[in-house]
Amino acid sequence: MNQQQLVERARQLKENAYSPYSNFRVGAALLMKDGTVIDGVNVENVSFGATNCAERTAVFTAIAQGYKKGDFEAVAVSGDTVDFLPPCSICRQVLVEFGDPDFKVLLTNGNADVKEVTLEELVPLAFTELEM
Ligand code: THU
Repeated sequence: MNQQQLVERARQLKENAYSPYSNFRVGAALLMKDGTVIDGVNVENVSFGATNCAERTAVFTAIAQGYKKGDFEAVAVSGDTVDFLPPCSICRQVLVEFGDPDFKVLLTNGNADVKEVTLEELVPLAFTELEM
């Protein structure tokens, strides 16, 4: 699957978002190194804090399916936004837990323009396991 196909998948996934409270639909298509694509959407809740972002839905699904740290290749994130939609800070921390520094993050906007950054660029000075 190439970059354009991954972005297109993320755009399609927005249709499955459950976002009745924000009306902000997000799709995340997570590409694993074995070529599998795992779907994620935001899933909101009337108790707003119980909401799960699209990126975390995809990452947690990958782990539930048996994938491990180091198996993660790229993620495309899509929303109906004018600007590129970046993962929120909680999702960035979750991506750092499982993705290598060169994991690719494909940011898109409502027009399907794409900006590619590495996880290291998206999260400089990330909190990881530190030696004591
Ligand atoms: N959201 C995501 O799914 N991913 C992000 O990176 C940003 C925010 C969702 C959470 C909530 O359902 C809605 O967008 C508005 O914040």
